[in-house]
Amino acid sequence: MTSPYGLKGKAAIVTGGSRGIGRAVAETLVRAGARVCLTARDPDAVRQAAEELGGVGLAGSVGDPAHLRELTELALRAFGRIDVVVNNAATNRPYGPLMDADPDQWREAFAINVEAPLRLVQYAWRAWMREHGGVVVNVCTEGAGHVGPNVGAYGTSKAALLHLTRQLAGELAPKVRVNSVSPGLVRTEMARFVWEHAEGAVAAGLPLGRIGEPEDIARAVAWLASDAAEWITGADLLVDGGTAVRAAYASGKSPGAYAVHDQLRSSAPRPQ
Ligand SMILES: NC(=O)c1ccc[n+]([C@@H]2O[C@H](COP(=O)([O-])OP(=O)(O)OC[C@H]3O[C@@H](n4cnc5c(N)ncnc54)[C@H](OP(=O)(O)O)[C@@H]3O)[C@@H](O)[C@H]2O)c1
Repeated sequence: MTSPYGLKGKAAIVTGGSRGIGRAVAETLVRAGARVCLTARDPDAVRQAAEELGGVGLAGSVGDPAHLRELTELALRAFGRIDVVVNNAATNRPYGPLMDADPDQWREAFAINVEAPLRLVQYAWRAWMREHGGVVVNVCTEGAGHVGPNVGAYGTSKAALLHLTRQLAGELAPKVRVNSVSPGLVRTEMARFVWEHAEGAVAAGLPLGRIGEPEDIARAVAWLASDAAEWITGADLLVDGGTAVRAAYASGKSPGAYAVHDQLRSSAPRPQ
C-alpha cells in the first residue's frame, strides 16, 4: 500500500526501532519515502531491522548520552539531514508500588523515558533542526493521564515526557514541531504481560472493540511527522481505541472496562 503521507527525501531517527511500535513506525516512515536510522540495545535485531528497511542502525541504550550523540552523527553522515526524531524507546521498570521502588531504578526510568528524549532532541537541534527545521514525535502513553496499579514510575516519567513535549513545542517553534502520540494497550512485547491472558476481556471493555496493533500507532506518528500536520505542535494524540472514554461506553459497566488494571495487579513484566 502506498502511504498518504509524503516524507520523500526526509531522514528520520527512530529509537526502539527493532520491534513493536518503533519497528512499525520505521516501516511506515520508509513507506512514506523517508530513510531511517534506528537504535535498540540488541545489535542483531538492530542490524536486521536496518537491513530490512534499507536504513542504518546503531546498537546501544538511549540511556547512554554518548550513544545518542553517535546516533545523531550516524544519521547525519548517512543521510546528510535529520528531519524527524521519534522518541519511542522506553522502560516500564521499576514495576510495583512506589514505596518499594529502588531509587536507582527510578532514576533509570527517568533517564530512559525523559532525559534521553531531551538529549536526542538537543543533538538533532544542534546538528540540523535549528537551522533547517524538523519534527519530533514522542511516544507517551494513554496511562499518563491517570494512575494505575504498579506503574507509578512509568506513569510519572511518561507524564513528564508529555510536559517536555509541550515545553519543547513552545521553545522550538516555528522551526521544529514537537508532538506526542499516546497509545492505549498495544500488542507488543513490552505489554505482553497485560494482554496475553486478558485480551478478550480488555477488548470487550474498549469502545472500539480491540486492543491496538503497532501499525495503529505508527500511522498516527507518520501523520504528525508529515506536512499534513504542519499547523500542529504541542499536541498529544491519543490512539487508544477509546480507552480514555470507556466509562461512557455502553458496555463500560462490564468487568472488561478495567481489565487492564486487573492485569497490572496480578502480573508483572518479564525480565528484560
Ligand atoms: N505496548 C503498549 O501497550 C504501549 C502502551 C502505551 C505506550 N507504549 C509506549 O510505546 C513505546 C514502544 O513500546 P513497545 O510496546 O513497542 O515496546 P517493545 O515491543 O518492547 O519495543 C521496545 C523497543 O525499544 C527498544 N529499547 C528498549 N529499551 C531501550 C533502551 N534503553 N535503549 C534503546 N532501545 C531500547 C527495544 O529493543 P532492545 O530491547 O533490543 O533495546 C525495542 O526495539 C514505548 O515508549 C512505550 O512506553 C506502549
